[in-house]
Amino acid sequence: MVRPYIKSISYYVPDNIVTNDDLSKIMDTSDEWIISHTGIKQRYFVNEGENNSDIATKAAKIAMEKAEVTADEIDLIILATTSADYVGFPSTACLVQDKLGAKNAGAYDLGAACTGFVFGVETAANFIKSGNYKNILVIGSEVLSRTMDMTDRNTAVLFGDGAGAAIITANEDKESKSEIIYSFLRSMGSGADSLKRPAGGTTNPFVPGVTDPKDLYIYMNGRQVYNFAVKAVTDTILKLMEKNNLTMDSIKYIIPHQANIRILEAAAGRTSIPIEKFYINIENFANTSAATIPIALTEVVEKKLIQRGDNILTVGFGGGLTFGGNYIKW
Ligand code: ACO
Repeated sequence: MVRPYIKSISYYVPDNIVTNDDLSKIMDTSDEWIISHTGIKQRYFVNEGENNSDIATKAAKIAMEKAEVTADEIDLIILATTSADYVGFPSTACLVQDKLGAKNAGAYDLGAACTGFVFGVETAANFIKSGNYKNILVIGSEVLSRTMDMTDRNTAVLFGDGAGAAIITANEDKESKSEIIYSFLRSMGSGADSLKRPAGGTTNPFVPGVTDPKDLYIYMNGRQVYNFAVKAVTDTILKLMEKNNLTMDSIKYIIPHQANIRILEAAAGRTSIPIEKFYINIENFANTSAATIPIALTEVVEKKLIQRGDNILTVGFGGGLTFGGNYIKW
């Protein structure tokens, strides 16, 4: 039995820090409102000329270095994003494949919004289990700063840019290490309208002079998404625990999607899992959609908060609507 594992994990964020105070200079908001309603203190935005594929490539290079995997040795690149370099095609994964010089790799984007990295990890795990692929690069990367209406305080304060990357491969050792044991993936397309970019696709194509430019940006019904998210996090944790006979005490850390600290506090309350078990770094990065989980996981590893053999859960939720999580024995 081939056992897929996370050989390395890394992240990259642009060097441009944007604080709540910076935003309050360009829209009617305040540091106090943003912190008290979301937990966010700052976020990173890309610099001019810097694109999703650039930050994704940087995160990927760090992961490859850590795993000692060369560009030639990558068989597949799966890039989860909602803010691709281009609408539809070419995929951002193909641009990353070229920037890395990964000439033996197939590459494609995965569209599961903020749950994209969770879906990508499980997708890669199954490619590894097929026995036909050795090294898979899974990336969650976003440039949400270019998909937001910077005059809409309801959304513009919530998001940031960043990229996370993992090399997933087969564990050929006897001992277990950071193995992807089980994943729970779900979608609820009936909630599609609560979180979307209304125009630019084939439902509402861009027509010069007709399309409202605001419809090209992220639209979100915050209250609907909040209610969905609390249930999604709760259901995912309980399902992962039930399917894998995990008790609360046997879980070392939960690595959740970082959208709003209040969503996590509510889910912690509903599951009776102490909030301290949820790794939270939203204050520094804001919501980087598909990148939040790999960024958080990298920090958990670098801070040595988890050791070999610890049980961890990732939990994602987002546009689509999508939700789910991975059970990983670190
Ligand atoms: N600064 C100041 N005031 C603001 C801001 C802001 N940035 N944004 C909204 N307000 C105001 C509103 O206009 C409203 O004013 P009013 O009462 O005069 O009408 C007031 O604050 C309260 O607005 P609500 O929308 O009720 O605020 P709420 O407490 O619900 O928080 C939020 C809004 C943070 C969006 C919340 O609904 C939420 O967290 N939703 C979950 C969605 C989420 O996290 N999405 C992230 C992306 S999706 C994903 O990752 C899955």
